[in-house]
Amino acid sequence: MLIEALLPLFRRSAANSRILNISSQLGLLNKVRDLSLRSMLLDEGALTEGKIEGMTSRFLAEVKDGTWARRGWPAVWTDYAVSKLALNAYSRLLAARLARAGDRVAVNCFCPGFTRTDMTRGWGTRTAEEAGRVAAGLALLPPGELPTGKFFKWCTPQLYSKL
Ligand SMILES: NC(=O)c1ccc[n+]([C@@H]2O[C@H](COP(=O)([O-])OP(=O)(O)OC[C@H]3O[C@@H](n4cnc5c(N)ncnc54)[C@H](OP(=O)(O)O)[C@@H]3O)[C@@H](O)[C@H]2O)c1
Repeated sequence: MLIEALLPLFRRSAANSRILNISSQLGLLNKVRDLSLRSMLLDEGALTEGKIEGMTSRFLAEVKDGTWARRGWPAVWTDYAVSKLALNAYSRLLAARLARAGDRVAVNCFCPGFTRTDMTRGWGTRTAEEAGRVAAGLALLPPGELPTGKFFKWCTPQLYSKL
C-alpha cells in the first residue's frame, strides 16, 4: 500500500527512484519445497498480485486447518519465510512491471544477514549499524550501477531466477 501510494510521486521525480525492501534469505525460492508453488512464483509472465495473495491466503487456511506442515512451505521460520516469499515475489513483479512501462524506479530486496536486533534477541554476526550502512549504500547506488529486480544477499546482487 505504501509503495502504491508513493509511485505517482516517484514517476514525477526527475531523478531515478529506488525501493529497497528489507527481506530475508529465508524467503528465497530455493526454500520452497512445493514444486508447483515454486514454478508459479518463477513464471514471471503469469505472476500477478492476485496469485501472491492467493499463496498467502492458502498458507493461512492451511495453518487454520492444521495441514501446513506437510505442504512444502519453507521449513525454517515458516510464517516469517512465507511473508518474505510474498515480499520477494511482489518486488520482482513490480520491478518488471515498472521497467516495462519505462518508469525509472528500481525495486530491489536486501537481506541484512543475521543481525543483532530485538528480532534476534540481540544475537547475530553483525550490528544493526553495519547492516544499516550496507542497506544505505545499496539504496544510494549511482544510477548507472543501480539494478532492478535483484535480491542483495548482504552486498552481493543475485538473480532471483537462479535461486
Ligand atoms: N535481524 C536479523 O537478523 C534479520 C535478518 C534478515 C532480515 N531481517 C529483516 O530486517 C528488518 C528489520 O528487522 P529487525 O531485525 O530490525 O527487527 P526488530 O528489531 O524487531 O525491528 C522491527 C521494527 O519494525 C517495526 N514494526 C514491526 N511491525 C510493524 C508494523 N506493523 N508497522 C510498522 N512498523 C512495524 C518495529 O517497530 P516497534 O519497535 O515500534 O515495534 C521495529 O522498529 C525486518 O524486515 C526483518 O525481517 C532481519
